[in-house]
Amino acid sequence: MKQHETRTAAIRPCGPSDVADVLAIINAAAEAYRYVIPPDCWHEPYMPAEDLASELADGVVFNGFFLEDRLVGVMGVQRRRNADLIRHAYVRPDCQGRGVGSRLLRHLCRDMGSPVLIGTWAVADWASRFYEGHGFARVADGDIAPLLRTYWTVPERQVAASIVLACPPLNGCAADLLISGASAAAHVPES
Ligand SMILES: CC(C)(COP(=O)(O)OP(=O)(O)OC[C@H]1O[C@@H](n2cnc3c(N)ncnc32)[C@H](O)[C@@H]1OP(=O)(O)O)[C@@H](O)C(=O)NCCC(=O)NCCS
Repeated sequence: MKQHETRTAAIRPCGPSDVADVLAIINAAAEAYRYVIPPDCWHEPYMPAEDLASELADGVVFNGFFLEDRLVGVMGVQRRRNADLIRHAYVRPDCQGRGVGSRLLRHLCRDMGSPVLIGTWAVADWASRFYEGHGFARVADGDIAPLLRTYWTVPERQVAASIVLACPPLNGCAADLLISGASAAAHVPES
């Protein structure tokens, strides 16, 4: 982050007034997927405004990295039953590779007690490298679809083209146990 050291940087939750900037960052950074993910999974814009609105309504909470009060990176978290998901991690293309994503991820993971799961495109090797550098590990191939179907709402086509990473790593039958715990959590009445 050397370039940023003399500039004011802050991480804080994004509010309603940030939504347009969140959307712009997601769609600018998602250009990385163009011509990389399967063509039938690409659409434009990558994240329509109504999809972002429905993600917010579904409990995704975004934190933003602000540089001199300008939003340059976003990362969402979503509590789903017995796990926390990192959702929609995007840094403005001209600010990537300077530690913004790392600082957001460390900030979000600091207070998470449950396993943290991340789903991403299997072909986005830069994204898996990024997460692996922060202690996440890819789940076994056979665990990807059951985890995605339990914790995410994504089309089957996307399930087939995705991987899941977890921190701490889900080894052995840990994914099965987590999924069983998720069904139990789904049946606990809200207090
Ligand atoms: C993936 C993404 C969120 C990571 O954010 P970022 O700010 O670029 O990440 P960081 O700078 O913290 O780390 C990325 C890389 O830069 C390196 N880096 C960190 N600080 C650096 C610095 N000061 N100077 C140069 N490189 C640096 C890291 O070592 C890391 O290297 P890696 O490629 O081996 O993983 C961002 O690149 C992005 O938006 N990509 C496109 C969309 C995407 O793939 N999103 C993921 C969805 S799951």
